[in-house]
Amino acid sequence: MDKLSLLLAQLLTLSVVVASAGSGGHPDRVSDNLRPTQLHFYWHDRNLGDNATGVTVAQSPTSNISKTLFGMVNVFDDPLTILPNETSDLIGRAQGMYFSADRNVSALQMVMTLVFNGPKYFGSTLIVMGRNPPDDLVRVLAIVGGTGIFHSVTGYAQISTVLDASSIGYYIVEYNCTLTYPENSYSS
Ligand SMILES: *[C@@H]1O[C@H](CO)[C@@H](O)[C@H](O)[C@H]1NC(C)=O
Ligand SMILES: *[C@@H]1O[C@H](CO)[C@@H](O)[C@H](O)[C@H]1NC(C)=O
Ligand SMILES: *[C@@H]1O[C@H](CO)[C@@H](O)[C@H](O)[C@H]1NC(C)=O
Ligand SMILES: *[C@@H]1O[C@H](CO)[C@@H](O)[C@H](O)[C@H]1NC(C)=O
Ligand SMILES: *[C@@H]1O[C@H](CO)[C@@H](O)[C@H](O)[C@H]1NC(C)=O
Repeated sequence: MDKLSLLLAQLLTLSVVVASAGSGGHPDRVSDNLRPTQLHFYWHDRNLGDNATGVTVAQSPTSNISKTLFGMVNVFDDPLTILPNETSDLIGRAQGMYFSADRNVSALQMVMTLVFNGPKYFGSTLIVMGRNPPDDLVRVLAIVGGTGIFHSVTGYAQISTVLDASSIGYYIVEYNCTLTYPENSYSS
């Protein structure tokens, strides 16, 4: 490295340290005011037609005769929007699967990553899991972790179906997420 490159490198390091000092002193620290404690958005699932965002990938030979579709596995890549309107601003996508794992009442097991790719929280993810009986007015899923700005987060998502158009295979679900960050957690 020549002298100029070395000087530039030192200057850059210095400005990073100075810039981060105001947000807690640790160079990797995410400023608390960047980390939301509440998130609100809408999940859109279409499972019929050419452009379905959710598809059935497997089922048991007995799933069709089960009243709860026991054994059916769906994979989805669903848009998440700010407003209930499907054409409102996208904040990301929910990518994962749900499978019917209750033989007696309709209940889905959800395993998904919320991938934030809008201008807010770009590149960060939340990992969401839990039991989702879709006929209940409000369900609660666990937020078990995250990456990027959501590194080390935990919390829960309260969800409620706001549109159930099963004839066209289109569902909109409202999500209210409550997030908790541990003390001294640093960005990844
Ligand atoms: C699927 O998307 C394509 C391209 O956007 C569009 O031309 C087509 O009409 C859509 N099909 C359905 C069933 O919505
Ligand atoms: C279950 O029902 C669907 C829709 O009627 C049909 O497409 C599918 O082949 C059936 N699957 C089995 C395993 O019987
Ligand atoms: C949905 O949003 C789009 C763009 O923001 C707008 O043009 C459209 O009228 C809205 N539709 C409804 C039903 O609100
Ligand atoms: C099945 O669900 C019904 C209605 O929720 C409940 O009354 C019944 O006890 C359940 N049976 C079993 C075996 O869990
Ligand atoms: C989400 O929060 C809003 C505002 O407090 C409330 O109107 C709505 O009913 C909540 N929805 C769910 C599913 O918790």
